[in-house]
Amino acid sequence: MKKIFIKTFGCQMNVYDSNRMLDALAPHGYENSDDIESADLILLNTCHIREKASEKVFSEIGRTKEVQQRRKELGKETIIGVAGCVAQAQGEEIMKRAPAVDLVFGPQSYHRLPDMVERAKTKRVIDTDFPEEDKFNFLPKPQQAVTKKRGLTAFLTVQEGCDKFCSFCVVPYTRGVEQSRPVEQILAEAKDLVLGGVKEITLLGQNVNAYHGGDALDQSASLSKLLHKLANIDGLERIRYTTSHPNDMGDDLIAAHRDLPQLMPYLHLPVQSGSNKILKSMNRSHTGEEYIELIERIREARPDIAISGDFIVGFPDESDKDFEDTLDLIKKVKYSSAYSFKYSPRPGTPGALMKNQVPEKVRVERLARLQILLNQQQGEFNHNAVGKIMPVLIDKKGRIEGQIGGRSPYLQAVHFNAPENLIGLIRNVKIISGDRHSLKGELILNDGEEKT
Ligand code: SAH
Ligand code: SF4
Ligand code: F3S
Repeated sequence: MKKIFIKTFGCQMNVYDSNRMLDALAPHGYENSDDIESADLILLNTCHIREKASEKVFSEIGRTKEVQQRRKELGKETIIGVAGCVAQAQGEEIMKRAPAVDLVFGPQSYHRLPDMVERAKTKRVIDTDFPEEDKFNFLPKPQQAVTKKRGLTAFLTVQEGCDKFCSFCVVPYTRGVEQSRPVEQILAEAKDLVLGGVKEITLLGQNVNAYHGGDALDQSASLSKLLHKLANIDGLERIRYTTSHPNDMGDDLIAAHRDLPQLMPYLHLPVQSGSNKILKSMNRSHTGEEYIELIERIREARPDIAISGDFIVGFPDESDKDFEDTLDLIKKVKYSSAYSFKYSPRPGTPGALMKNQVPEKVRVERLARLQILLNQQQGEFNHNAVGKIMPVLIDKKGRIEGQIGGRSPYLQAVHFNAPENLIGLIRNVKIISGDRHSLKGELILNDGEEKT
């Protein structure tokens, strides 16, 4: 067996893609390895979203080149491949700047990987096409033993690409136009995952709630329809989806949060800014007030829902007042968790050409203030869980001997003392304390069960 070492950067979609790349190569005699020094094929699955993420790629290539050199001294060949969004956006530049790289390919053409790897043995290969064919029709499914090894929770990409063109964002350029996978294809994949032991599936898409895949009758199905179908799969205990855009949060999807017990009470709904002026120039096409009103409607349907978000500070022309509007919005919404970033001008996006770029020092200060508030809210959210009993999907040993851990419905990390043979189950746990990062609980014993 040949070995692949794959390093994944960026979003969950890249995590999913990396697994599918491994699946694509498995029938050709390749298996995954955690040891880079033993790898015949090294893949870097990259992210272009911010400058830092993107620059990392070139230093990683440098490190990989050293491995290639060491292996060469032992008489072993190593193919280096760069995949993902930097490959898509800067493929030619990688080929020029990094002669050690044998293979460059984008997120839409990795079903051709076995052929590309063969060809790369003799000649450098670049494939950053957006092919006509649907890559998912060509990708082999993972063997059940592989799915089992990957654990109780799995990602499943249902939608890719984006047509929204927010003025800061590279995704529409790196991932291409918005596309949805057909319902039946997704149901088949979900059923296979469940047969492989998966209990929780997170549906992925850059704009997952814009999903509109064709169903068996070739009619367009919404995300809500898809969720209802998935909820009928026996053994699929929990469903989540990410990332959503506020403008695609339809009434039927909101109702699904009320009606489907399998759909977990957690929603990642980025707003980016609380200033209407900035939202407009970001091309988000909604106001802060509309977002808050939307959150209210979602909470009417599912009062306990945890809301998480993404924020960008220091977008061009963001004044102190605009920034204060963002803090105000956060205070109104009360997030359970959030990701926040300093604006990073990206080549080819309208934001990078805008006047009044905000100085780095101001961006740093604003990010720090924003994070203090968000951290405080996360701490409060966890603190409010104390005293409650929650079902926890137990998926690992804890860091402390005798402890096991898992996730609450609200995606909080929970740990508690209980035997390891409970890993793989969903059990009720009473929360006894909580800080910003995690919750500590006590297992609720079933009839006849004894405390260990
Ligand atoms: N499709 C998702 C997000 C994709 S990118 C959505 O629409 O919400 C993930 C997050 O990265 C974004 O929500 C945004 O907060 C951040 N991001 C994207 N481009 C950025 C940039 N140029 N600078 C800083 N943060 C950025
Ligand atoms: Fe980027 Fe906006 Fe599309 Fe999200 S909706 S992927 S932020 S362009
Ligand atoms: Fe990064 Fe591409 Fe995801 S740019 S965030 S890996 S879609």
